[in-house]
Amino acid sequence: MDIGWDESLATGIKSIDDEHQRLFGYIADLETALSKGKSKEVLTPIFDGLLEYTLFHFGHEEQLFSQYQYANSSQHLALHDLFITNMKALRSKFDSKGNFGVASDLLNFLTQWLIDHILGEDEKYLPLFEEKGVK
Ligand SMILES: [Fe+2]
Ligand SMILES: [Fe+2]
Repeated sequence: MDIGWDESLATGIKSIDDEHQRLFGYIADLETALSKGKSKEVLTPIFDGLLEYTLFHFGHEEQLFSQYQYANSSQHLALHDLFITNMKALRSKFDSKGNFGVASDLLNFLTQWLIDHILGEDEKYLPLFEEKGVK
């Protein structure tokens, strides 16, 4: 699966694009480690980094939603929460030994979900953020 960030995912808002790129960087590291059959000891810190950075990124978007009173905020927040719930489920798959096959499938699923989220949901806040001059 091609999991890299590319221009088709660009929002044009630098801070958001930087964060999205970094998320895909974590995912690529995880995918590489998984495909090389790396141990749980290697995978876990990468996954924890991804989870932590996802929380940071969602927090940043949500802070901007409240700052600029984004109308679609509650729906967007619910999607973020669902994503975090799914990531935590994947995290426990990593914790249970011998489940790397499942972990890889789920990672692909979450990656596609993230792409769909950026294109389908993050796109919707762009007119407001642009109007407010978010960089
Ligand atoms: Fe985002
Ligand atoms: Fe989002």
